[in-house]
Amino acid sequence: TQTRYEAENAVCDGTIDSNHAGFSGTGFCNTTNATGSYVEWTVTVPAAGSYTLAFRYANGSTSGRRADVRIGGTATAQLDFPPTGAWTQWSTATTTATLPAGTSRIRVAALTSGGTANLDRLDLSGGGTSTIVDV
Ligand code: GCU
Ligand code: CA
Repeated sequence: TQTRYEAENAVCDGTIDSNHAGFSGTGFCNTTNATGSYVEWTVTVPAAGSYTLAFRYANGSTSGRRADVRIGGTATAQLDFPPTGAWTQWSTATTTATLPAGTSRIRVAALTSGGTANLDRLDLSGGGTSTIVDV
């Protein structure tokens, strides 16, 4: 299954804007252009396991907007969020994370003074555990 979490329903350390077309829902989060600025989603999953986190974003600047992915306050990955060519051109940056059953906070926190890319949503998929059966 896949669950869609729009940035306009998350905590946005900046403003929810709608001036650059192509977003889903009613807008996207334009974080403050500063290191540490963030979007934080609260997600709920039924089972502990490995999940795919797909962040839809636009970066109309000419440099990457590198960011930490933090799960419950702990940085577990970094993503580059490279330029997409225009603020109206949206792309997806993906990573995986192990989540516990229940509720987790997932934060994308800027590692550069530009802040994060404009963030449209988080699509969460996967989960559960896999076992190797030796036949
Ligand atoms: C522009 C753009 C914003 C973006 C910002 C930035 O102002 O309109 O949507 O967030 O650049 O550099 O982060
Ligand atoms: Ca911004």
